[in-house]
Amino acid sequence: MKDTIILGIETSCDETSAAVVKNGREVLSNIISSQVDLHAEYGGVVPEIASRKHVELIIPVIDSALNQAGIALDEVDGIAVTYGPGLVGALLVGVSAAKAIAAALDKPLIKVHHIEGHIAANYITHLDLVPPYVCLVASGGHSHIVYVKDYLELDVLGRTRDDAAGEAFDKIARVLGLGYPGGPAIDKQAKLGDPKAIRFPRVNFPGESLDFSFSGLKTAVINHVNHARQVGEALNIPDICASFQQAVVDVLVDHTIKAAKAQNVKAIGLAGGVAANSLLRENLARKAKKAGFEALFPTPVLCTDNAAMIASAGYYSYMAQEFTDLTLNAVPSLQIGAGHKGQG
Ligand code: KG4
Ligand code: ZN
Repeated sequence: MKDTIILGIETSCDETSAAVVKNGREVLSNIISSQVDLHAEYGGVVPEIASRKHVELIIPVIDSALNQAGIALDEVDGIAVTYGPGLVGALLVGVSAAKAIAAALDKPLIKVHHIEGHIAANYITHLDLVPPYVCLVASGGHSHIVYVKDYLELDVLGRTRDDAAGEAFDKIARVLGLGYPGGPAIDKQAKLGDPKAIRFPRVNFPGESLDFSFSGLKTAVINHVNHARQVGEALNIPDICASFQQAVVDVLVDHTIKAAKAQNVKAIGLAGGVAANSLLRENLARKAKKAGFEALFPTPVLCTDNAAMIASAGYYSYMAQEFTDLTLNAVPSLQIGAGHKGQG
């Protein structure tokens, strides 16, 4: 069978990325130009700065992806682009570039939901993974437990009712003066601390709910820090980080395993920037194994934003002939599953 080559484009937040992926699973190139340093001095992503930087970088990044893959534009079978959710100005840069290439080459244009892209990162790292499975998606903007019934059929089983897990990491890191993004900094500090030093709250909703809430945990950590500062106590940053991280991970892991049991699947996938967290990976692997599930993680570079995951998700839409036309627009608060035939 002829190989299918998809060019993926991702600009939903602060990474400008383009990738070339063969048959949905083989990454020929994955160029990621991060703007983290630019935004770090503001303590978070500044949307206007992000859009301007994407405009500057998008063409060189796409050129590098094609060069590194050794693929000419006319050898590409389809162009897959993130069209939501994300920052509208940032999304529009990728969407416009993808539309221009699709129009110029007369090739299919494929719209990809950013979170569905994150989930597809699992297909790249685990070549034998096929749906159904349950996937925990934890990123800076989202915390979802998703039942992946089929490549293009996804049901949300649980979601955060307030902050996303990554957002909680970023906010706590800011309070502790650890900089942006907070996740990697807390992960590092936590390795030096005691996760049992401070008992922070774990929120579970009544009944069968698999939803998350991290705002109470965030307030508890901030109260702890403020109290210590008021009474002049030295802060034990590693202990705070380890105790906070354990509280987040306990809830994420427990709810995900509950979901896997309820759906009666064999495998659990992990996705999104927080999936790079070392404790989450270790605890999920251990507890999933004990409960009889196989836990699968994308490599860390495929956990945070990248275009290879978008090309992989786009491949499955391509195979189902789910194409879109040049009226495609950015949808900043797009729901999971909304873009597929017969869903949403
Ligand atoms: O998926 P992503 O790159 O962007 C969004 O779609 O949001 O996720 C970024 C988030 C940030 O909140 C960052 O702090 C978090 O992922 N993150 C981590 C780690 N690496 C990145 N959180 C915890 N531990 C990590 N090692
Ligand atoms: Zn993301």
